[in-house]
Amino acid sequence: MAVDPFGWAGQVLDGRYRAIEVAGDGGFGVVYRGHHLALDVPVAIKCLKVPQSLGPDERATFEQRFLEEGRVLHRLSRASAGVVQALDVGAATSPEGAWTPYLVLEWLEGRSLEDELALRCRAGQARFGVAEAVALLGPAARALGEAHAQRIAHRDIKPANLFLCRVGERRVL
Ligand SMILES: Nc1ncnc2c1ncn2[C@@H]1O[C@H](COP(=O)(O)OP(=O)(O)OP(=O)(O)O)[C@@H](O)[C@H]1O
Ligand SMILES: [Mg+2]
Repeated sequence: MAVDPFGWAGQVLDGRYRAIEVAGDGGFGVVYRGHHLALDVPVAIKCLKVPQSLGPDERATFEQRFLEEGRVLHRLSRASAGVVQALDVGAATSPEGAWTPYLVLEWLEGRSLEDELALRCRAGQARFGVAEAVALLGPAARALGEAHAQRIAHRDIKPANLFLCRVGERRVL
């Protein structure tokens, strides 16, 4: 298993989300494969790496900004099928004493575009054709367009931050 800097693996955050194991480690955080205990569905729990030396005021300011980001992501994800669904946002202290702002996201089955491209390259497979690439990137591009219309910039679009997965059709309910 990958390194678990917070000590959350096997623990429950805020009584609601069990962190099972580290699933990914990015620049800003650690993503756990987790379980939403009440809904009984898999989730991704994205925990932010923050300096543990923050004072109480800095921590409170940080938490407010993080909560606001969670709300923005939630709104965007409700409005767009091309954005991972955000289910919750909060901050919890791990049994090891690590203060952890966290986001709960729907669990996506698949892999990042970065991993997919590396796999294809190693296997000597053909690159994506233009039509296939356009079809695959379309929903993400439309989601970015919706974000821009709301004056929200992603600022870190790259293959590692695009996820290749199957999602159900969008429909009117
Ligand atoms: N919802 C999800 N379902 C399954 N796996 C995920 C999910 N979100 C993230 N991951 C895994 O964790 C890895 C890192 O995720 P992500 O890019 O969101 O984190 P980050 O790089 O720390 O943060 P950011 O890109 O927002 O700066 C992804 O490449 C993917 O493997
Ligand atoms: Mg990332």
